Amino acid sequence: MGETPQEFLDLNDFRGVGEDPVWHPPVLADRPRDWPLDQWAEAPRDLGYPDFARYQWRGLRLLKDPDTQAAYHDLLCELRPRTVVELGVFSGGSLMWFRDMARLMDLDCRVVGIDRDLGRCRIPESEMAGITLSEADCADLTTFEQLRDLPHPLLFIDDAHANTFNVMRWTVDNLLVAGDYFVIEDMIPYWHRYCPNLLEEYLGAFGKTLSMDMVYANASAQLDRGVFRRR
Ligand SMILES: C[S@@+](CC[C@H](N)C(=O)[O-])C[C@H]1O[C@@H](n2cnc3c(N)ncnc32)[C@H](O)[C@@H]1O
Repeated sequence: MGETPQEFLDLNDFRGVGEDPVWHPPVLADRPRDWPLDQWAEAPRDLGYPDFARYQWRGLRLLKDPDTQAAYHDLLCELRPRTVVELGVFSGGSLMWFRDMARLMDLDCRVVGIDRDLGRCRIPESEMAGITLSEADCADLTTFEQLRDLPHPLLFIDDAHANTFNVMRWTVDNLLVAGDYFVIEDMIPYWHRYCPNLLEEYLGAFGKTLSMDMVYANASAQLDRGVFRRR
């Protein structure tokens, strides 16, 4: 198990310029790389990128695909959290989704949305029951002090994609108790491709404090190998 680095580098910066440039452009076996423009309309569109623009919850954009929604549904059911913290609010559809699911499951749960720019949040005032919005910047962890003393069990989701491992260490040191969850959405496959050595080293630094929950860490592409439980 590695030594904890003084300060984790922000792996979110390593999308294509990683410390370990193992990425090569994919070779397309079943179609030409250069598609003729006079057949533009017939071009296949099944390469598998997630079309997030399609997903919404009660009219608000929700950047979680159906597999991920199903996985969170099951996690809410199992964990019965009293607090869900999500870093990254954007339209706020995800906060409303978590609040509505918690209500359907009769959970006594508050949903806390954190963003450095809440200006894009579109949750109407009439829909704010059970939801708290707070401004904070993942790059400045002193702004996270407001998050201490939240009720447990706690589900903490990083969907802001900034300074993730220092945020993770802050939550492990200051917030999470045994059984609580820390989720890294979306990013692990990128880091595994672009900076695999740092990724392994940084995850290894949490070997004594977190484990990966193999039920949810295999449940959807967005959660791929990114669901951790406080030991
Ligand atoms: C992917 S969106 C969140 C989507 C939302 N969680 C959902 O599922 O619908 C990312 C958000 O992170 C916020 N963000 C980016 N950098 C941040 C930082 N350093 N601190 C806090 N929030 C940040 C952006 O303002 C943006 O609203």
